Amino acid sequence: MLILGLNMFHADASAALVQDGEVVFAIAEERLNRVKHYAGFPSLAVKACLEAIGAKIGDIDHVAVGQDSAANLAEKVRYALSRPAKILNFIRLRQRKEALRGVRSLLASALECDPAELRFQEHHLEHHIAHIASAYYCSPWEKAAGFSYDGSGDFVSTMMARCEGNDIEVLERVYLPHSLGSFYTMICEFIGYKQYGDEGKVMGLAPYGKDTYCEQVRKIAGLHNGDFRLSLDYFKPLGSNEGMQVLPDGTVRLARHFSEGMVGLFGEPRQPHTELTQRDMDLAYAMQHCFEEVFFHLLNGLHDRVPCENLAMAGGCALNSVANGKLFSRTPFRRTWIQPAAGDEGLAIGAALHTYHAVLKQPRRHTMKNSYLGPAFSAERIAGALQKAHLRYRTLERGPMLDTVAGLIAEGSVVGWFQGRMEWGPRALGNRSIVAHPGLPNMKEALNSRIKHREWFRPFAPSIKADCQAEYFEHDHPSPFMLHVYKIRSEKRTQLCAVNHVDDTGRLQSVNRQENPLYYDLIQAFERNTGLPVVLNTSFNENEPIVCAPEEAIDCFQRTRMDALAIGPHLVRRSEN
Ligand SMILES: [Fe+2]
Repeated sequence: MLILGLNMFHADASAALVQDGEVVFAIAEERLNRVKHYAGFPSLAVKACLEAIGAKIGDIDHVAVGQDSAANLAEKVRYALSRPAKILNFIRLRQRKEALRGVRSLLASALECDPAELRFQEHHLEHHIAHIASAYYCSPWEKAAGFSYDGSGDFVSTMMARCEGNDIEVLERVYLPHSLGSFYTMICEFIGYKQYGDEGKVMGLAPYGKDTYCEQVRKIAGLHNGDFRLSLDYFKPLGSNEGMQVLPDGTVRLARHFSEGMVGLFGEPRQPHTELTQRDMDLAYAMQHCFEEVFFHLLNGLHDRVPCENLAMAGGCALNSVANGKLFSRTPFRRTWIQPAAGDEGLAIGAALHTYHAVLKQPRRHTMKNSYLGPAFSAERIAGALQKAHLRYRTLERGPMLDTVAGLIAEGSVVGWFQGRMEWGPRALGNRSIVAHPGLPNMKEALNSRIKHREWFRPFAPSIKADCQAEYFEHDHPSPFMLHVYKIRSEKRTQLCAVNHVDDTGRLQSVNRQENPLYYDLIQAFERNTGLPVVLNTSFNENEPIVCAPEEAIDCFQRTRMDALAIGPHLVRRSEN
């Protein structure tokens, strides 16, 4: 049975293919059309899904969309009626969502086929149920507490659920305008980070601040009778502007979230690209601090209702790896399963798996084994791309390739590492990565000036052999998808200085040999050279979506000052070109 899952006309449009209950292929449209956070229809992603298994759209039995404009209608209407001035925007928003109804014609036109060929049944699933489904149905558990939180989806910002067997029972919804995601986005905008997706950057700024404004910020987003509430004096009213707008080219633009109330409390907002002041850093600190307070409070409440050690979690806010790293000490949960695509691209697999298990009542047999669900490219195809770019390269067997690359990293070289199937989700996890030595004091600056050009305050991440994690980090709960930040043990911080953040933490990827044998063996080869079972891992890109095809990797290699590129079995040295 083939189920196609879609996230469409929403940021991070994506498609995923579930075959007999197993996710066999999944990809965000941005990786193919190269438009970051693309929010139109994922035509190329659908084609890639079908191509991956040699299927035609006529072979698809079910199509599942992770959005349902009919969901929570009563709450939407109640909000609109209480604020008549905003009702026009509401109607406009609703009209845009009506476009979702035409899945059949959208697919027929994207694939240039006759709609009569399409025999699938169509399903629409509420946004946050799709998020929770994306985590729970990929987890190995038969029972878990389900939690989803983000800016908004189908008029809801937070959902709690009891997950058992095939069922996800919704226990609680928090409706707009109250939203932890909107709170975070609003403060990010106020301190000059206004692009969709900038929240992850500001998370890295927070530890540079101190506790100056927690009291004030707690009034903006605080606890309220076991729940949380935003103080709306500090926000532009929902519906008073376009909010998150999808432009005709599929890019996402955010309208201003903060009101004059913020200016009254904290002074003028920071303009982008101007110097960061202590005020901005202290605001980032308070934002992360208050976010965590509310998050842990909600999780503790959820645990009271679903007393279980397993937490299946998704939603854009579940990418807050700092909060995720602390939840074991602040809540009774002992295990997390956070899907690698915790953000909205993950809706595609959530909707598809929900259709399989909850709608069609099919048994649960599969768990997600790794994040490598994207396309792979043959050695011949890669060689062709290298020749076309007029690059000299050597082709190496597995062992010599690992030894050579590990030796290069040990000497301080920066190497593009392009291998196997592309990762699903926003993190590069050793197949579309740039790797370097984690213990060289100048490595962070070198990477930034030569390749990544990122903000000075953003840390780089370590990939560590899973069996060595406890020796280097204060927590041993695995972080296979780079979604937990833990303290680095004090005696190891100097050895890991290029990945040790200002608060002595690292957003680690624990690498298990079963999940990625080639990458694990690369780290092991590096360990033989240096004694360190850790490499620095940053995504293979430069201010663009992560590279997908060999041509994009080669282009990035040529544009930046990487020392070498290991692409499939081929090794390119800058010094030889
Ligand atoms: Fe979402």
